[in-house]
Order: sequence, then structure tokens, then C-alpha cells
Amino acid sequence: MFYQLARSVMFQTDAEKSHHFALASLKLLQHTPLQALWSQQIPSKPVTVAGITFANPVGLAAGLDKNADCIDAFAAMGFGFIEVGTVTPRPQAGNDKPRLFRLPQADAIINRMGFNNKGVDYLVENVKNSRYKGVLGINIGKNKDTPNEQGKDDYVACMRKVYPYATYITVNISSPNTPGLRDLQFGEALFELLVAVKNEQLDLAAKHGKYVPVFVKIAPDMDAVAVEQVAETLLRSKMDGAIATNTTLDKSAVASLAHGTEMGGLSGQPVRQKSTLVVSQLRQAVGPDFPIIGVGGIDSAAAAQEKFAAGAQLVQVYTGFIYQGPTLIKQIVSGL
Ligand SMILES: Cc1cc2nc3c(=O)[nH]c(=O)nc-3n(C[C@H](O)[C@H](O)[C@H](O)COP(=O)(O)O)c2cc1C
Repeated sequence: MFYQLARSVMFQTDAEKSHHFALASLKLLQHTPLQALWSQQIPSKPVTVAGITFANPVGLAAGLDKNADCIDAFAAMGFGFIEVGTVTPRPQAGNDKPRLFRLPQADAIINRMGFNNKGVDYLVENVKNSRYKGVLGINIGKNKDTPNEQGKDDYVACMRKVYPYATYITVNISSPNTPGLRDLQFGEALFELLVAVKNEQLDLAAKHGKYVPVFVKIAPDMDAVAVEQVAETLLRSKMDGAIATNTTLDKSAVASLAHGTEMGGLSGQPVRQKSTLVVSQLRQAVGPDFPIIGVGGIDSAAAAQEKFAAGAQLVQVYTGFIYQGPTLIKQIVSGL
């Protein structure tokens, strides 16, 4: 009810302005009695994946709370886990505006934000100040002006800063909005990056006396052979899991709609099947136990079930959550 009202106001205004307004409001109100407006009790449906116990298998996907400003507000909505970021070593402005577009007829969003964020130090301060005790993923990326050959230095720099505070770390190599980033998903470039990440993880585990799993987030725009190759590299570099998928560059399904040909990544309903296909191809390639988080177009219990049936042990939501609000979490968890 509260969300329906807030949504009808926010959807009248520019997408990015209403996004910032919503986050600023959540941040302002998250430790006050007004948090009751969006708090809800979710049935406990614990699941253990990669050695981590999640209160329920429905998480907030990366990119909504890039700077970890509103962790406690999202926690009150009942997410089983929260992923913040993508964060880069240094703050960066992202692409020019406008860069965020709603496509309501398709239950979709196109974005070309370009990792706008306040940098890893700011994010870490927010995490330290939050009261949340649940599972927190921290999603890391590289700065736009760091050449790909030095990309691993950015990932390693972020790992060092976030490691003590993360339940898991996500290596994001699949945003379509940082030029060349997706090249890191293939061949030797991927293996070299992941070996560097693995070595750092093992050093940090020894230093901090705790092992923090690392997941790799991949794109939906890959054929079966490419997914198989990525899977083989994830296993070879001993990554702890995969998140499938990020947004798609294929906008053919929305080309006739207003904003349907904007540059950037498409999310929501139109990416649902593609993501599910990647989850199932990945599952085939990695065997039954390797952790997979399914994300892309989940807007109902049935859509979540589709990802579980394809082989995901956990799911995340972004666009469906923007359109439906916190009741989506309850709907999915209650349907399990
Ligand atoms: C506006 C917007 C910003 C996003 N930013 C990020 C990001 O910073 N890092 C990331 O890994 N994924 C990001 N994503 C991708 C989502 O986390 C998710 O993988 C994708 O949108 C598919 O899920 P959905 O259909 O439920 O939205 C973003 C998505 C949107 C719509």
C-alpha cells in the first residue's frame, strides 16, 4: 500500500531523480519509527550456500544501493541477503545524464549508469555504521579510466578494503556500461584476473582469520560455448560461485517502445529467459554443487522458481523490486 503510493508519485518524475529521492528518504528514515512504513516480517526459510547461511534465498541485487547508504532500510524489508556496490577504488561520476530509463509496458529498465559511486572508502564507512547482522555481499569493479591490463589492481585494491566487512565479495566483470569491461570475461584475461583475485583472497583469509567467498557476476549475452568456457575458468581458478546474470545488450524485444533503443543494459522481464538459460547452461557445466545465484527478470514466485529449477540455489531482484516493492520478497519467500 505504502509502496503503491510512493511508486505512483515517483513514476511521475525522471527515473534517476526519483531513485535518488527514494534512497535519500530511506537513508533519512531508516533508524526512525517511520521505518515501520516498509518493514515486514518474512517467513524464515534458511538456506546454506558456499558455507554461508542466508535467512531466506531472496536477495537485493547489486546496483540499487551502490554506496551502501541504506543497508538497514533494505534489511527491514526482509531480504535474505543484500548486495551493495558496484564500488570502485576511487569515486567516479559515471556516464552523462540521462542514463536511466523506465519501460513500464515491458516491466523493464535500461540503464547506462557507468558505475557512478562514491568510492570504496565511503562504502566501507557506511557498512561499518550499519546495524545489519545478515549476509552482506560487496560487489567490486574497476574505475573507468583504469586500463583493462591493470584492471586486476583495482579489484585487488577493493578486496583489501572490503574483505573484513563482507560476507561474500562479487567480482563484477559484466557491466555493459564500462567500456571494455566485458572483455575480462573471456580467455586468458579472465583466468589471469581470477588467479590474482584468488591469491589475494587466500592472503586476506590468512591475515584476517576468516574465509570470505568470492562470486563472479557474468553477462547474459553469451552463447553456450562461451558459458562453458567461463564455467571452466571459474572452476580452474577455484572461485566460490557465480551470479547470473547482469543486464543484456539485446534490446530487440523492446525496440518499438519509448526509450527502447537507448544505449545501455536492459533488465527486467525481457532478460528473464536469457538469464535462466545462462543459469541452466552454467549448472550443466559446473556440476550440482557449485553455488549459483540467479538474477534477471524475477518479478513473481513463479519467475523465482524458474531460476531455482534451472539450477540456482539463491536469487536476487532489482527491476521487479522497483516495479512491485517489498511485497515481491514476501510473495517469493512465501511461495517456497
Ligand atoms: C539501474 C541499474 C543499475 C545496476 N547497477 C549494477 C551494478 O552497479 N553492478 C551490478 O553488478 N549490477 C548492476 N545492475 C544489474 C542488476 O544487479 C541485475 O543483475 C540485472 O538488472 C538483472 O536483474 P533484474 O532483471 O531483476 O533487474 C544494475 C541494474 C540496474 C537496472
